[in-house]
Amino acid sequence: MPNKIDFGNGSIDFNIETILIKKNNPEVKKLAQFYIQLFQNPNIQIQEVDKLEFTQKNSIILGINERRDAPDRYKIQVTPYGIMVEASQVKGLFHALQSLTQLVKLNPENKAGSIRIPTVIIEDEPRFSYRGMHLDVARHFFSVDVIKQYIDLLALYKFNNFHWHLTDDQGWRIEIKKYPELTNVGATRSNTLIGHYTDRPVKYDNKEVSGYYTQEQIKEVVEYAKDRFINIIPEIEMPGHASAALAAYPYLGCTWGPYKVANTWGVFEDVLCTKDTTLNFMKDVLNEVVDLFPGKYIHIGGDECPKARWKTCINCQRNKRRFNLADEDQLQSYFIKEIEKHLYRKGKKLIGWDEILEGGLAPNATVMSWRGETGGVEAASQNHDVIMTPGSHCYFDHYQSKNPREALAIGGYTPISKVYAYEPIPANLDPKFSKFILGAQANLWTEYIEDEKKLFYMAFPRAIALSEVLWSRKEDKNYAGFLERLQFHLPWLKTQKINLTNAYAELDYTLSKSGDDMVLHFVKAPIKGKVLVEFKHNANNFTQEYPKGDSLILSNSLDLKAWYQLQDNSLCKPIHIIYNKHKAAGASIQFIEKPSPKYFSNENSIINGIAAPTNKYSGPEWLGMEGKNFEAIIDLSKSDTIDQIKFQLYNFPAAWIYPAKEIIVEASTDNLNYEVVGSWKLSPFTQERYIEPIVDLKKNKSYRYLKIKVINHGKIAEGSPGAGHTAWLFLGEITVD
Ligand code: ACM
Ligand code: ZN
Repeated sequence: MPNKIDFGNGSIDFNIETILIKKNNPEVKKLAQFYIQLFQNPNIQIQEVDKLEFTQKNSIILGINERRDAPDRYKIQVTPYGIMVEASQVKGLFHALQSLTQLVKLNPENKAGSIRIPTVIIEDEPRFSYRGMHLDVARHFFSVDVIKQYIDLLALYKFNNFHWHLTDDQGWRIEIKKYPELTNVGATRSNTLIGHYTDRPVKYDNKEVSGYYTQEQIKEVVEYAKDRFINIIPEIEMPGHASAALAAYPYLGCTWGPYKVANTWGVFEDVLCTKDTTLNFMKDVLNEVVDLFPGKYIHIGGDECPKARWKTCINCQRNKRRFNLADEDQLQSYFIKEIEKHLYRKGKKLIGWDEILEGGLAPNATVMSWRGETGGVEAASQNHDVIMTPGSHCYFDHYQSKNPREALAIGGYTPISKVYAYEPIPANLDPKFSKFILGAQANLWTEYIEDEKKLFYMAFPRAIALSEVLWSRKEDKNYAGFLERLQFHLPWLKTQKINLTNAYAELDYTLSKSGDDMVLHFVKAPIKGKVLVEFKHNANNFTQEYPKGDSLILSNSLDLKAWYQLQDNSLCKPIHIIYNKHKAAGASIQFIEKPSPKYFSNENSIINGIAAPTNKYSGPEWLGMEGKNFEAIIDLSKSDTIDQIKFQLYNFPAAWIYPAKEIIVEASTDNLNYEVVGSWKLSPFTQERYIEPIVDLKKNKSYRYLKIKVINHGKIAEGSPGAGHTAWLFLGEITVD
């Protein structure tokens, strides 16, 4: 959404014949040549003139104006007498030409040969100076051609930085001439984990993964990006995420190995040693990197560096004494500061992930805030530049759909609506520091992105939402309007062979109670379409209908699937709801202990008749207690006999979710005098991820109130994930029969 857009009375049929530019402006001429090449139309003439004016119908005039105050601002005028584009810098002209490209390419009426453009005046400039997209090529390698396609799309959507994550535990992907083993050894791993890294048993494929970019290829990509006004920020990870470097040169580590290029995901204890040999090695590496990338920034990682090896390393401990450092955090800070000094001498600025704050920030460092906004707020408050990339909104390796059949992702849920809602200036940052927030970036970590098809599927259309967050004015934000505009972008992206999701229009639901029945309300995205429902009667028997309103009364147990059908008749992935009417479905519930707001959708999810999915712990039907017992009173509104109560528990130590130790059910007719009516205890041998305890009650007695206590696992023992913390308790539906 441009800042200003005024449509004229009609449109012009445009057949570009000439590009008019002023004499003696080689930069503008280069841009004009580039644009002609992009349009693959060699008949377009460049005319160099003394004065730029509307004189020829099928012409684009490219003019540099004197507005030095706004380096990114541009203006486009589409008139029957030609198209005039002006900006104070060539990059502004480039952005204008991207807008023009969108006007041409996204118009479905523009078949080959005829180009119709509305008469319009557009004035525009970006809200943030840093608009980035990242790509991890270590976990999976992507060819130069794919990188170029990625850069083309970034340019079309007016991003101006590409953060190229070139090294990690699973591969070193940039040729370093002084240290050839980095790619001879470090660019290849023998095999790769299959499935999610928390899956058990652990499985591996038997395919070698190999690949790196030669320095010639890097130069080619840098040049390609430069032509599209995109700066490339290379990332060379240190001191953590360095297994590939260690495998190539084991003397870089504290223990000398042996090390191997990682074939699984996560954080590894073996990291670079802080000794001079290693620092000097990394400085040599950076010398070659600095020569390849003309931009001012070099990213050195700095995230997720365990300190265990340093604690028992003679060299690291000697450094602590030598530099009078209090702890290993300060040792990390020492390492980063040494690297920063070196980069500074080479005229470069260091960027690091927010862990570089720990132990003290290097004097001129720019921080990328990924663990939420805290690091960004802290760094900006210390007058340091910040780029926001919080996991909550900017990690495009997260799921964009809640559908259980969505392609595997690392976790999380970052739908496009959430990306669009992102505000890069943290709400709790003192406004006097907001100028330090340069912008934001989305990160694409590729553990679960094995090829370009999935890469573009994960990146788009979410990147378009982020582009608008970073470019457009805050007051012009309008999600429904964005989705409407998106309908022009998606068909065009499909012609570019980009595999797209329509998850942005997937249905969601809420429930309420009406008399004795529950009512299901469909929650729709703000985009035109119809709800289609299929009821399952038995294995071979279904009926389909378009319900009249957006809700359905659930008077009996039922099994249904519901889709949103868009105007082009395409269907989004369905929601599947199995409603099981039981005595507490829709009853009122009073929580004695409050669930964690992070895993709690609404009071009634635990007794709404809809079971939580048994294969994952996310979604509105699961409730999480962080370190606490679950304790609540259910009021059935009248006394009734109860035979049994069924629970749903989750067991997932990797995420610190442990099953309850015990369940105790008390019952009462008056909410004053309670008696224990049933209980359950966890078997110590339980391994299953999903557990369904059943508590049988004394028969033939009636109760109105049930007091349910589900006892948290408590403190996690040494040797188990999350040791020393208290466990999460996850509870699904409580079914009362
Ligand atoms: C990160 O995601 N470890 C920066
Ligand atoms: Zn060491």
